[in-house]
Amino acid sequence: MPEELLPVLSRAEIAQTVKSLARQISKDYAKKDLCIIGVLNGVFVFLADLVRELTIAVQVDFVRLASYGSGTVSSGNVQTTKEIELDVKDRDVLIVEDIVDSGLTIDFLLKYLEQFHPKSIKVCAFIDKTERRQVQVPIDYVGHVVDSGFLVGYGLDFDEKYRELPEIYHLKL
Ligand code: IMP
Ligand code: MG
Repeated sequence: MPEELLPVLSRAEIAQTVKSLARQISKDYAKKDLCIIGVLNGVFVFLADLVRELTIAVQVDFVRLASYGSGTVSSGNVQTTKEIELDVKDRDVLIVEDIVDSGLTIDFLLKYLEQFHPKSIKVCAFIDKTERRQVQVPIDYVGHVVDSGFLVGYGLDFDEKYRELPEIYHLKL
């Protein structure tokens, strides 16, 4: 059976959500020292859109974590494969993620970043996928909530495929 893509979010819906998240973040961090830490690889498209809608100055860095193999279920074994390089001590950190699923990645990342003693840490996720949550993690800025399904496009991949699609789809295997 070929993989089937069912539309979930259009370009227009995505753009509207990005604008609204950027508005809230710009307001909340107006008088702060914001360092955005993006989680590679999936976040590269969303983060590029998000920072261009912000009306405040920010610094951007990335972390790369590995937890997924080539399947669609988290292995639960999260590791850093690229460390942050910005000095975040006493600064306001916002983790930006494409999608939160089990919560294991964000849970790991919160602990990882705490060792650098930032002043604050918050989380922004374009998609909050709730059904398979294993660890309760705070998500301060949420683009869209979905309960289940495997999504691709807008940076999200299945086995490194479909990241380039400008819309978000539900992948039917
Ligand atoms: P978690 O650790 O289970 O919360 O997984 C977070 C990571 O798994 C995300 O950063 C994605 O890279 C990947 N992931 C989880 N759900 C999906 C999905 O529906 N499509 C594509 N990637 C996903
Ligand atoms: Mg990711």
